[in-house]
Amino acid sequence: MTDIGRRGFLVRTGLALSAAVLASASSRTLANQQPSPHRFTNWEDLRAKFPLSPQLIHLAAFFLASHPAPVRDAIERHRAGLDADPIGYWSEHEEKQEAKVLLAAAEYLGSNTADIALTDSTTMGLGLLYGGLKLGNEQEILTTTHDHYSTETALRLRAERTGAMVRQIHLYRSLKTVSRDEIVESLRKGITPMTRIVAVTWVHSSTGLKLPIHEMAQAIQTINRSRDEQNRVIFCVDGVHALGVEDFRVNELGCDFLIAGTHKWMFGPRGTGLVWGQPKAWPIARATIPTFSSQAYDLWMENKSSKGLPQSVHMTPGGFHSFEHRWALDEAFLFHQAIGKSKVTQRIYELNQQLKQGLAAMPHVTLHTPMSQDLSAGIVCLEVAGLAPRTVVEKLRQRNIVGSVTPYATKYVRLAPSLVNSSEEIEMTLREIKNLRTA
Ligand SMILES: Cc1ncc(COP(=O)(O)O)c(C=O)c1O
Repeated sequence: MTDIGRRGFLVRTGLALSAAVLASASSRTLANQQPSPHRFTNWEDLRAKFPLSPQLIHLAAFFLASHPAPVRDAIERHRAGLDADPIGYWSEHEEKQEAKVLLAAAEYLGSNTADIALTDSTTMGLGLLYGGLKLGNEQEILTTTHDHYSTETALRLRAERTGAMVRQIHLYRSLKTVSRDEIVESLRKGITPMTRIVAVTWVHSSTGLKLPIHEMAQAIQTINRSRDEQNRVIFCVDGVHALGVEDFRVNELGCDFLIAGTHKWMFGPRGTGLVWGQPKAWPIARATIPTFSSQAYDLWMENKSSKGLPQSVHMTPGGFHSFEHRWALDEAFLFHQAIGKSKVTQRIYELNQQLKQGLAAMPHVTLHTPMSQDLSAGIVCLEVAGLAPRTVVEKLRQRNIVGSVTPYATKYVRLAPSLVNSSEEIEMTLREIKNLRTA
């Protein structure tokens, strides 16, 4: 193994980390040592770190991140370096930056760097994972009727290509009566001796419903007690609307794989994402796109097998990327760490509660997202009597309020209060929705 390759191997397997990288990244996560790009004193200050148009109330900010100042600065720095000397800058920074990104992601998630594959989006992670999971002839994939286009299509493509069996279940009867118990029970009943993979979405972008992932994982663990490793149910979660919202440590969540883009609630560079897998689960994943990790490439150049490398390495697809974006991702994790996970969650919940309480009191509005924060996160879905969702979103836009329509067969107005919003903005939004009755 070359010197560079060996360094990469140590970093990726989590056996060793460059002292400098470790020291700089971990010291920057300490709240009392925030470096200036991450420092903020109040929520207005935080909002000022985003180049978001100040004329607009951004209630669809989760859709695609606006880059906050530290992320933007890092992108510009890498872009300038790559533009000035592409191969020189790449050689100098590739391993170092990837190690930094993995370390920041691992610290944020509460996992090891070796458990994380880097992707370009949620969809890329879902496609690569579901496309390659090893399945026996008699084994099926169990999924739900509530998932996003990307999960559903990734599974359909897998079924068409390989003949894999995919079965969908409903997790609840009605949003009006849905409970955590009902969801867990529906899952438990849906799992058969043939079920090898369970594929769900943590927070539904169709309704705002949040699944009780930890309880679902516990139900699966109970089922798994009577199964051997080859038949164990593998629990896969699209977590894109939980990452950067919910306060969790991935090792304690209980799922096997968490797939997410980091360019939504995390405020990472557009075109970034990850797949986390627990060490016991990674061997079931098979890569599709050749990785460009230096350790795999180095071994190939020496005519040696790279089979011994962690599966997360193989599941990080090559070739070259928009490196200025990929290498700036650590800044997004540090940005969130500087605020603090629990503060992030609390703030998003507060704003969402304010919006939901206001909407629930309006006779012309049907609130579809459950009021309870046990069953919701940062997305609120609603309808206004007599107005198509598209019309409501257009009317709000005319009043400088940016929402979206759920991109599903059943369409709702979707508003997502986030860290870039204020309580005053939620009040203004409620006033405008109230006025829609008489408009
Ligand atoms: C639940 C869910 N999963 C996946 C995606 C796709 O995310 P990405 O753009 O990161 O592929 C979206 C929305 O875009 C979504 O709402």
